Amino acid sequence: MTRTPKTTGEHDQKVGTYFDKAAVTFDTFYDRKRTKLMQWVDRKYRSDIFERFRIAFETLRPMEGKSLLDVGCGSGPYCVEAVRRGARRVVGLDMAPGMLDLACRRAEATGAADRCEFVLGTFPKDAPQETFDYAVVMGVLDYIADPAAFLGPLAQRVRGKAALSFPSQHGFRTPLRKLRYWLKRCPVYFYGSGQVQSLMEDAGFADVQVVKIPGAGQDYVAIGRGTAK
Ligand SMILES: C[S@@+](CC[C@H](N)C(=O)[O-])C[C@H]1O[C@@H](n2cnc3c(N)ncnc32)[C@H](O)[C@@H]1O
Repeated sequence: MTRTPKTTGEHDQKVGTYFDKAAVTFDTFYDRKRTKLMQWVDRKYRSDIFERFRIAFETLRPMEGKSLLDVGCGSGPYCVEAVRRGARRVVGLDMAPGMLDLACRRAEATGAADRCEFVLGTFPKDAPQETFDYAVVMGVLDYIADPAAFLGPLAQRVRGKAALSFPSQHGFRTPLRKLRYWLKRCPVYFYGSGQVQSLMEDAGFADVQVVKIPGAGQDYVAIGRGTAK
């Protein structure tokens, strides 16, 4: 079935502009380049970022000799980790040029560049027309206006498992986060657990499992098997 995404060019431009500006700051989460105080804040309030990284690589196994599509790859931490674990080919797609610059630099600095391809663009519109063993989509569904139009094409590109995060509705944190993003003119969306399960299944993913990361932001991580042959 072909769907017309509700997402407009203007919507994507807002998200891309926000992440282009935030790229350097976002990248520092992973490399502990922040002040001691900010590292404490990250451990306390952003532990989901590290926990979903751990879950993704615990799930997408074995990585040796496999291909991975990383949608919304940001500064490339998942791409280079996949190569470190033996992936033969990794495609990182992102709409923010500043993020992709950092991803290229990270891949070069870690010797992963020859197995990584970075594509500037928006999923699903600009995704390569190939299928992958695995996919990872972390911290991205937060910014997707029409998740069904995103997840259907994703399921069709994956032969094995995909690991995705979805931000949960949280009584205290959600209104604050909405306000922060509204001030930065970046759209942001939240999900309930039943909604995540049905979005994944309706998109065609099989063996869907949804877990909630305890503490901090309480993201859901959904794992499902894609429909590609
Ligand atoms: C919070 S960052 C997460 C980066 C990385 N996945 C990580 O976990 O470190 C979200 C990224 O998704 C990208 N993004 C959002 N919507 C996208 C879309 N439809 N297509 C491609 N990239 C997208 C943004 O540009 C941004 O770099």
